[in-house]
Amino acid sequence: MDHTEVLKPQTLDELIQILHDIFANDKVNIEEVQSIMESYESNPLEWMKYAKVDQYRYTRNLVDEGNGKFNLMILCWGEGHGSSIHDHTNSHCFLKILQGSLKETLYDWPEKKLNGEMVKKSEGVLKENMCAYINDSIGLHRVENPSHTETAVSLHLYSPPFDQCQTFDQRTGHKNAVKMTFWSKYGERTPFAIAQSQENN
Ligand SMILES: [Fe+2]
Repeated sequence: MDHTEVLKPQTLDELIQILHDIFANDKVNIEEVQSIMESYESNPLEWMKYAKVDQYRYTRNLVDEGNGKFNLMILCWGEGHGSSIHDHTNSHCFLKILQGSLKETLYDWPEKKLNGEMVKKSEGVLKENMCAYINDSIGLHRVENPSHTETAVSLHLYSPPFDQCQTFDQRTGHKNAVKMTFWSKYGERTPFAIAQSQENN
């Protein structure tokens, strides 16, 4: 079923329900998911319990496990916080802005065996309620909160779920495998011992 013309989620819970329905099917229509995520009008009262800010770096906060088909999470970006350049482990990645704005810079995959500065393909600023999409065939990206006064909050859907990705050094193109953890799950802070190595997405 094509939900695009039919359903505009009125709340975050409704959005999650629609996403469950869509991802119950094996075939994912990227435009449909993007358009439904975009049509949800961000309401801070609905997501503030997940939006936990850290002083030093951005946080990943699990919202829903999508029946094993996807991970939905909220990322909180303090002033000037950013990710490294990273891939998405062969998954779909949808990124919707809930508050503030984020700068997204796209890069080509580095050439094998060549040491050198990575090639920037494009950059753009994502504004409130916009939803971007990326996967490994499109390229790599870096995401940053360019504001020095405002926290940014974003909603991310990854399908299938993954907990490891590769990060890339902009100067050399060298890559590193990184394990990712959650700062909180379902609104509850993750115990410290399993939350040490916060990384990208
Ligand atoms: Fe990403």
